[in-house]
Amino acid sequence: MSKSKSKILVTGGAGFIGSEFVRQAVKKGQKVVVIDKLTYAGDLERLKEIQGKYRFYKTDICQKAKLEAVIKKERPHKIVHFAAETHVDRSIQDALPFIQTNVTGTQNLIDLSRKYKVKKFVHISTDEVYGESLSGKFKETAALKPKNPYSATKTAAELLVRAAVKTYHFPAIIIRPANNYGPWQYPEKLIPVIILKALKNKKVPVYGKGRQIREWLHVADCAGGIHTIVRKGKIGEAYNIGTYFERENIATVKTILKLLGKPKSLIQFVTDRPGHDFRYSVSYTKIKKLGWKPKITFAAGIKQTVQWYLDHLAWMEKKLHILEAYWKNVYKEIRQLN
Ligand SMILES: NC(=O)c1ccc[n+]([C@@H]2O[C@H](COP(=O)([O-])OP(=O)(O)OC[C@H]3O[C@@H](n4cnc5c(N)ncnc54)[C@H](O)[C@@H]3O)[C@@H](O)[C@H]2O)c1
Repeated sequence: MSKSKSKILVTGGAGFIGSEFVRQAVKKGQKVVVIDKLTYAGDLERLKEIQGKYRFYKTDICQKAKLEAVIKKERPHKIVHFAAETHVDRSIQDALPFIQTNVTGTQNLIDLSRKYKVKKFVHISTDEVYGESLSGKFKETAALKPKNPYSATKTAAELLVRAAVKTYHFPAIIIRPANNYGPWQYPEKLIPVIILKALKNKKVPVYGKGRQIREWLHVADCAGGIHTIVRKGKIGEAYNIGTYFERENIATVKTILKLLGKPKSLIQFVTDRPGHDFRYSVSYTKIKKLGWKPKITFAAGIKQTVQWYLDHLAWMEKKLHILEAYWKNVYKEIRQLN
């Protein structure tokens, strides 16, 4: 490990975005400690290329005593908190694990960061806390109006962080990234689901008519933006990370099918997700002032992502047995809710 002064503890560092943040941190020569429960979504294979260059603890942030033992031993200067239950569909089926990890787990981290005098706590929230935006872009000052159980728990977590800032002068910063895509995303989220299903010549499920609009942010740009905020962000502030690249889900599906050389006839419209937010869109002028802007265009990023999945088919296949059972239930249950 490098001798750089500052030690960063990253929760959820074996997840999709957390692992990209950790890979970048290690490449910058930073000292990194990763805490992750390794749920179905966590996987240390994502950190294989930096094996031996970070410390790892398989720890559940809901188990306060075990979490405390790690923080007491490592005494990190900064904590970047990614760990969460993250899939909206799963939160619609069962919100309890979301309340436990996203809310209780976050409060545990706040308490222990205060106890061990962590100098900066960077909380990774989401643009979904704003709810949907039919026009315009949400600034960081906009009201929080989450509409599904996942975003409701992410909002609760943010509010606890904000309350700690006001009540105890807790040195926290909140970050709200837009929809991420890129290598290593667990194949239950839109883009890898499309790739995986299409590659197997299976029907590609699209909610409603696919008219929902998402703002896409490449995971490498997102992690780069988080590093910028960790370095230069102001305590007590919230920062959006976006790209202004918005498109309808159906357009994204068609782009991927084209890149894979698969027919549009694979598209299957399925009953819409209940409470499905129509559009997310954030203003990122605030983080721009810190010197960050996205570098990867969607055209280049989606090509690289599709190629990455083609090169990592074995990794995707390993997830399939969990996914097949899950898919069977999730669409059925969502149909019943409508
Ligand atoms: N993916 C996106 O598009 C997106 C967009 C905006 C914000 N976010 C936020 O970014 C963060 C990371 O998202 P992601 O897509 O990388 O998620 P992910 O599901 O890929 O990873 C989550 C990680 O957290 C770990 N984890 C879950 N519960 C835990 C617990 N109780 N204790 C310790 N570790 C636990 C998992 O094992 C996994 O490694 C989340 O907070 C999410 O809300 C994600």
